[in-house]
Amino acid sequence: MQQAYFRYYPQLKPNLTAVSDLIGDRLTVRYAQLEPALQQMAQQGGKFLRPAFLLLFAGLHEHPVTEQQLKAAASIEILHMATLIHDDIIDDAPKRRGHASLQAAFGKDVAVYAGDYLFTVFFDLITETVANTRFLTVNARIMKRILNGELGQMGDRFKLDQSLLGYLRNVNGKTAALFSLAAEEGAFLGGATQKEIQLAKRIGQNIGIAFQILDDILDYTGHHLNKPILKDLATGVYSLPLLLVLPTHQAELTPYLTQQAQMTPADIKAVQQIVKQAGGVQAAQTLAAKFTAKAEAELAQLPPSASRRALEKIIEQLLKRTR
Ligand code: IPE
Ligand code: IPE
Ligand code: MG
Ligand code: MG
Repeated sequence: MQQAYFRYYPQLKPNLTAVSDLIGDRLTVRYAQLEPALQQMAQQGGKFLRPAFLLLFAGLHEHPVTEQQLKAAASIEILHMATLIHDDIIDDAPKRRGHASLQAAFGKDVAVYAGDYLFTVFFDLITETVANTRFLTVNARIMKRILNGELGQMGDRFKLDQSLLGYLRNVNGKTAALFSLAAEEGAFLGGATQKEIQLAKRIGQNIGIAFQILDDILDYTGHHLNKPILKDLATGVYSLPLLLVLPTHQAELTPYLTQQAQMTPADIKAVQQIVKQAGGVQAAQTLAAKFTAKAEAELAQLPPSASRRALEKIIEQLLKRTR
């Protein structure tokens, strides 16, 4: 959790530590098979981006942080962790965050239950924080949108005629929904106005889309081996760089792609090369930059504050990230 943006908003560091402690407390269970799996997930904590967003949007009016905000931030990170655990089962991913994924280390059964357990903790936390507000419904809807994004992606597997719109719809669900929830709920809990809450929601959504596009780009450019770089292609999930060049490079790509799951590692490498040479990565970067610019323009409409400055820095850093 060593992030440069702490410099712009020093209180974020102790607050995120409090969120992390809260998560650790909630993940103590008395089931011998589940406990180590949950602890592994908690200890190999990720970037904590979503709780950071929630707390920064909650800080727009510079009120002191509340227990309710910390719990809400924890609830979102826990929902995120659950989706990652289940995602790794679906993707058959060997690694997550540079270590063996939960499903690889403990088996798929334990991983399914660990994800389910996290859902129950997520529900506990939202009933303790926003049950008496409209955000109970918002949380329920967001959970459905995440699933719909994943289902949409599953439905499009191996399809050669996927539209950009379909891709964006799926990404809007599977990734951006949670970012927009973090922003919107944070603004609400921090006493923002209705207009600011709506802006926060849109900023979260645009950042979320840009974030997933960049993640997809890293599949093609990444020097890191933390992620199953070639897995998406092999399982028929065609991410943005490929989708953007597919219409103009059908002749070269189709012979590989129609082999579907039978593609060899050499075939997959060949597809990667074609996509890169055709400019798929650059085109995806251009689109990510558009969503980022939108988020930045919306952010500029919020009242100036230390937290807004930190958000600007995070957005800037996200665009440059290489892992
Ligand atoms: C990974 O999200 C899943 C995507 C939406 C691409 P993060 O990159 O935020 O995951 P962690 O929590 O930091 O590992
Ligand atoms: C991550 O999706 C899971 C969700 C966004 C729900 P991906 O499969 O695209 O992300 P990574 O690459 O495994 O982190
Ligand atoms: Mg995955
Ligand atoms: Mg996936």
